[in-house]
Amino acid sequence: MPPFADATKILEAYYQLHAQPRQLEGEQDATFEVRPTGGGAYCLKITHAAPALVDLQLQMMQRLETAGLPFATPKPILNNEGTHICPLPDGATAYLTTWVPGTLYAKAKLKDAVLRESLGTTLGQLSQALQGFDHPSAHREMRWDNNQLPWVAQHLERFDAAQRPIVEQGLGYFQEYAAPALPHLRHSVNYNDANDYNLMTERDRDGHYRIAGLFDFGDAVHTATINELAVALAYAMMEQPDPAGAAVEVIRGYHQAFPLEEAEVAALPALVWARLLISVTVSTLNQQAAPDRAYLQVSNHAAWALLQRLQGIPYNLLHYHFRHACGWEPCPQATVFQDWIREEQPEFAPVSPIPEQWRQMDLGVGSLELGNNRNFEDEYRFERHIQRIMEEDGVEFGLGGYGEVRPFYTTDAYQVEGNSGPRWRTVHLGLDVWAAAGTPVFAPLDGRVHSFADNAAERDYGPAIILEHTPREGLTFYTLYGHLCRESLTQLEVGMPIQKGQRIATYGAREVNGNWPPHLHFQVLLDTLGNQGDFPGVGFPDEWPVWRSLCPNPELLLNLPEGSTQPKRVQWDGKTIQQKRQAHIGPNLSLSYQQPLHMVRAFRHYLYAADGRRYLDTVNNVPHVGHQHPKVVEAVQQQAAVLNTNTRYLHTELARYAEELTATLPEPLSVVYFVTSGSEANELALRMARTATGRNDILAMDGAYHGHTSATIDISAYKFNGKGGSGQPPRTHLMPLFDQSEQPLEQAKARLEELSQHNIHPAAFISESILSCGGQLVPPPGYFQTVFEAIRSIGGLCIMDEVQTGFGRAGEAFWAFELQGVVPDIVVLGKPMGNGFPIGAVVCTKAVAEAFDTGMEFFSTFGGNPVACAAGRAVLQVIQEEGLQDKARLTGQYLMEQLRQLQQRQDIIAEVRGHGLFLGVELSQNGQPKAREGAYIINRMRAMGVLMSTDGPQHNVLKIKPPLSFGMKEADQLSEQLDTILKEL
Ligand SMILES: Cc1ncc(COP(=O)(O)O)c(C=O)c1O
Repeated sequence: MPPFADATKILEAYYQLHAQPRQLEGEQDATFEVRPTGGGAYCLKITHAAPALVDLQLQMMQRLETAGLPFATPKPILNNEGTHICPLPDGATAYLTTWVPGTLYAKAKLKDAVLRESLGTTLGQLSQALQGFDHPSAHREMRWDNNQLPWVAQHLERFDAAQRPIVEQGLGYFQEYAAPALPHLRHSVNYNDANDYNLMTERDRDGHYRIAGLFDFGDAVHTATINELAVALAYAMMEQPDPAGAAVEVIRGYHQAFPLEEAEVAALPALVWARLLISVTVSTLNQQAAPDRAYLQVSNHAAWALLQRLQGIPYNLLHYHFRHACGWEPCPQATVFQDWIREEQPEFAPVSPIPEQWRQMDLGVGSLELGNNRNFEDEYRFERHIQRIMEEDGVEFGLGGYGEVRPFYTTDAYQVEGNSGPRWRTVHLGLDVWAAAGTPVFAPLDGRVHSFADNAAERDYGPAIILEHTPREGLTFYTLYGHLCRESLTQLEVGMPIQKGQRIATYGAREVNGNWPPHLHFQVLLDTLGNQGDFPGVGFPDEWPVWRSLCPNPELLLNLPEGSTQPKRVQWDGKTIQQKRQAHIGPNLSLSYQQPLHMVRAFRHYLYAADGRRYLDTVNNVPHVGHQHPKVVEAVQQQAAVLNTNTRYLHTELARYAEELTATLPEPLSVVYFVTSGSEANELALRMARTATGRNDILAMDGAYHGHTSATIDISAYKFNGKGGSGQPPRTHLMPLFDQSEQPLEQAKARLEELSQHNIHPAAFISESILSCGGQLVPPPGYFQTVFEAIRSIGGLCIMDEVQTGFGRAGEAFWAFELQGVVPDIVVLGKPMGNGFPIGAVVCTKAVAEAFDTGMEFFSTFGGNPVACAAGRAVLQVIQEEGLQDKARLTGQYLMEQLRQLQQRQDIIAEVRGHGLFLGVELSQNGQPKAREGAYIINRMRAMGVLMSTDGPQHNVLKIKPPLSFGMKEADQLSEQLDTILKEL
C-alpha cells in the first residue's frame, strides 16, 4: 500500500471511525471495506484520479441518493471538515461512502431469468434517474466507452491468429451498425460498469436472486444511453448456453423501466460486441503489463468464449431477438411482406398440383392421429403411418405443420443445452405438403436461384433449394423447398432466373430426403441470415414470435385461405384450461408446481408438455412399465374395440388374468376381487376384514394414506390429522411410525399390548409394505413379522397395501411385503396394475373369502371388465418380457449409490432409503426437516426438465418412483441434476 494511503489513519482522522479496513481487489483505485467497531458498513476509496473525476462520481451518487430508487447505491459521507473529499499527500484523494449490502452478482448461486430481468429493470431505472444529469468531467476520452471503440483497432497485432478475425468482425459491426447511428442516439452520463463484480443481489423466499444495489462509479462517462444496457448485456450473456435468450430477459426488464428506441436496439448487438472487444483488449494489454494480477483477467476467458458464440449468431437474428424483447415486430421486413401479400393479394402459380381434395395433417405433439410415439420413432413405421392416414381419407395430398409443435425433434440427438436445462427446437417453421415421391414442384412467382444444397444428414432436408424474389421495390424475400430428389439440384445455378410456374424440383423418396416420409417442406424467409441452401426448419418454442415474424405462414403463397391448413383439433392453452378447471372442477383438487405444467403426450419415462418440452419422469408409478407402452395400449385398444362388459358373463380374460395375477403371489393368497381403484380396493379389504372377524376397529400406521373414500379416509392419518381433517375416528387406532424409535419392534409390541389392555381387538392391521406418504420409510427387519404375530394371536387379520410398491418395483421382490418374509391375509392392489387403465384388486386367502361370503353379493360394475383385464395381463407380460423387476433392482441399487455419494457432499441429505425404484431422499439438517428447500428443489428440477415430488409428514422427503423403463442413464441424469440444484441452496 502506498505510504500516504494508510486507510486506518484516514478513517480515524477524517471520520473518527475505528476499524480494520479490508482491502478489496480492484483495477485502479485502492478500495476498502470498512466495518467500524461501533457498527455500520462503509466503503473507503483512495484514488489518484483527477479531483474533477472524483467530483463527477460523488455528484452522480448524490443524484441517485435523492432519486428514490428501489435499489441501493453508495451514499457519500461527509468528513469532519464538512466535505466529501479528503485530500491526501502525494495528490491522491480519499472518500467514504455507505456500503452496498448483498451478495455479489458473480457469487449468486442461481442466475436465471428472474435475476436477469431484475438486472434490466435496475439499469432502466438507473438510466431514467440519470436523465438530465451532466458534469463536465463526464465528457472525456475513456477506453471503456463503447462510443470510443476504434482505439481497439490500434492493438490488432497483439491478438493471435484465432482472435484477430473475431476482433475484426466486431470492429466491422461497429462501423456498419453503430458508428453511423451513434450521433443520432440519446446520450447521457452513464454508470457504464454493470458487471458481475459491481452488482449486489439478494435472494427472495422462493430462492430467486434479484438486484439489490450497484456501486463503483469510476467508469462514469457521457456516452450513448443504450451503452448502459450494452455493458450489462456483455456480462449477463457470458457463460450462458443461450446468450441471446439471456439478453432478451435483460432487455425486457430495461425496456419496461426505460423504453428503448428502435435505432438504439438496431445498434445494440454491435455495442455488446464493442464492450466485449474493449474487455478482451484491456485484458490483453494488462496481461502484457502485469501478468501476475489475476483480478485483471477476471472475465477474459468468458469474454472470448462469448465472442466465439456470438460469431455464430447472425447479427440480424440477434437484432430480431432484441426487438422481440421490446414487444416490437421482431423482423421489420415482416410488415412490408404482410402489406404486400394482404393488400395486393397476388395470384401465385401452384407450388404443387394440389387437388381440391386434400386433408389437414395433424402432427402436433398432442395429435391423436399421430398416436403413440412408436408410430414415428422408426422411419418405416412413420412412412406407413402417414400413408395410412391419407389412404383412409382417400386423399393423395396432406397439408399442415406451420407453427406446429411436434414431438419428433425431442430425442437426445436434438437436445440443446439452454439457460434452464435441455431444450428442443419443436416448432415447425414451414408448411409441409405430404404426397408421393416424384410429385413436381413449381415456382409460385418469378425469382432467381439464391442457393441450393444437399443437406444429406439424417432427418435433415436432403436436397433443398432457396429462391429469391423481389416482387416490388423495397421487398425481397425467399422461398425454401426441402426434401427434394437429388436430380432437382443438377440443373441449377446460383443466380439463374426462375419464372412463375416453372418446374424447379421433384419430391424426394425417403432414402434421399433425410429419411422422412416423402413431402415438400415449403418455407418463406424474409432474411436468409447468411444461409446457403439451408435454413432452420424448426425453432425453439420460446422464440416462436421471432421465427413467425421471420418466416411467415406460406398458406397465401399456396393460394390457400389463411388458417386452412391448421388442424381442427381443439387446443386450449394452459391459461384457458386453468380457467375452465376453476369454473368446473372442485377447488381442493390441486395442481403440481408453482407454474402448472400442461402435458399432452407421454412415452416410456418421459412426459411432453404442450410446447414439446420433454420431461424426465421420476415420480409417476402408475405408468409402471413406461408411459403409453405400445403393448398395453394395443391390448386396451383391441379389447375395447370388441367387447367391454361386466363380469356377470363368462369371459376368458377375467379367468386368465385372475390365474396369472395370483400366480405372482405366495400361497395361500389365491382369491381375487377386481375393482377400479386403490381406494375401492382398500374399502373392500376393510369390509372383508370386518365381516370375517365380526369386529370394527382397525389398526393403521400413523402418517399413512389408503384412499379417498369415507372408510379409507378414516384410516388415513395423513388425511384425518392433516389440513381440513376432522381428527382420529374412535374405531381407528394408530401404530407409531418406526423411524422415530430406537427400538421399533419393542415399540410396536408395546403399542399392541396397550391396545389389548384397553380391550381393543382390531379386525385388522393395515399398512403399506414400504410407507410412501410416511416418507418412503422402509420398515426395520422383522417389523411386520412381529406385528402380524401379535395381531393374529388376538384373531385379527393382516392387510398389506401394495398400491404403490407392488409389481416388481421393489426390485428384490415382486411384492414389497416379501422383503419382510411375511404373508398377509389380504393384499390391496391399484395404481400400476393397468399402467394407467383404472383397475384395482383385493387378493385374499380362501378362508377370508369364505368368511366374507355371507350371502350378500359382491359386484363392482367396471371391476374386472375385459378391457381392464387385458390391460392388467399386458402389464404382467411386459414386466416379464422386459425383466423389469430385475431392472428395478439394478437401477435402484445404482441410483441409491449415486444418491449416497451425493449425501457425502451435501449436508442437507440426512438419509437415502428404499428398495428398487421406490426411493426416498430425506432432507434434514441438525434434526430440522427442510421442507422449503424440498419445494425449491422440486421446482428447480422441473425448470431443468426433471419431474420429482416431496412426501412425508414434514414434506421433506424427495420421493423417487419412476416408470420401470427408467434406467442407468436416467439415474445419472437425475443424480447429476440434483447435485447441481443442491449447490444452489
Ligand atoms: C398406498 C395407497 N393406497 C391407496 C391409494 C388410493 O388409490 P386410488 O387413488 O387409486 O383410489 C393410494 C393413492 O395414492 C395410495 O398411495
